[in-house]
Amino acid sequence: MSTQPIGIFDSGVGGTSIWKEIHRLLPNENTIYLADSANAPYGLKGKETIINLSIKNTEYLIDKGCKIIVVACNTATTNAIHVLRETYDISFIGIEPAIKPAALNTQTKAIGILATKGTLTSDLFHKTTNLFASNIKVIERIGEGIVELIESGQLDSEDMKVLLKIYLKPMIAANIDYLVLGCTHYPYLIPILVDLLPKHVKIIDSGEAVARQTKAILEKNNLLDIQTTHPINQFFTNGNPKVMQSLLDSKFKVEYLDF
Ligand code: DGL
Repeated sequence: MSTQPIGIFDSGVGGTSIWKEIHRLLPNENTIYLADSANAPYGLKGKETIINLSIKNTEYLIDKGCKIIVVACNTATTNAIHVLRETYDISFIGIEPAIKPAALNTQTKAIGILATKGTLTSDLFHKTTNLFASNIKVIERIGEGIVELIESGQLDSEDMKVLLKIYLKPMIAANIDYLVLGCTHYPYLIPILVDLLPKHVKIIDSGEAVARQTKAILEKNNLLDIQTTHPINQFFTNGNPKVMQSLLDSKFKVEYLDF
């Protein structure tokens, strides 16, 4: 058993959607969330840069004594988690687009996937798609500009609606019945997406699965916290703390950190 915190990082505020799932499932765990918003979006960066930024975030969290690290970013997972696992002697939980459940359950034999360029062009994503979705239509769209709008606090803006309409159009035309959200920023768009999509389209993301996997690995390694009753949940960003604060309950305080 360990009272050390769970470390979570993302290129920005999106991974808080994963933190919420982890906190829901493991409410007594101490956590440290790191948002590298100054370097967002990762999705447009090259593989080497994504690896180097992921190493920087990981080292900060290891220095803080984290017992496990959740890479709450599809782009960092699909491009860098193999290097992190080879380099550090700590467990990493990653997140990948939920292609498998969508491909297994689709009735229309067409699914949509919205993710960053970095995720959609990664080897890991191609491998997963070939493995589970080779016999169905997969309509991929890069969510260009979405992360930037969320990071600047324009989640609910007209610009966001215009972009989403453009990205969903070919998916709706292909009669998708599942939309896979392949970026941890996107769960915050679900209310807008529900308005824009036909009623029969189900939206799925991997947040809950990541929380379950985090719990399973902590259990397996005997690291679950069975002692803490008043956990400390810390949130750090090298961007604008107000944007992250607007996505969290006011009892959680976001701090600026130059890292
Ligand atoms: N939240 C991220 C993801 O899940 C990255 C977005 C970005 O920085 O491009 O892919």
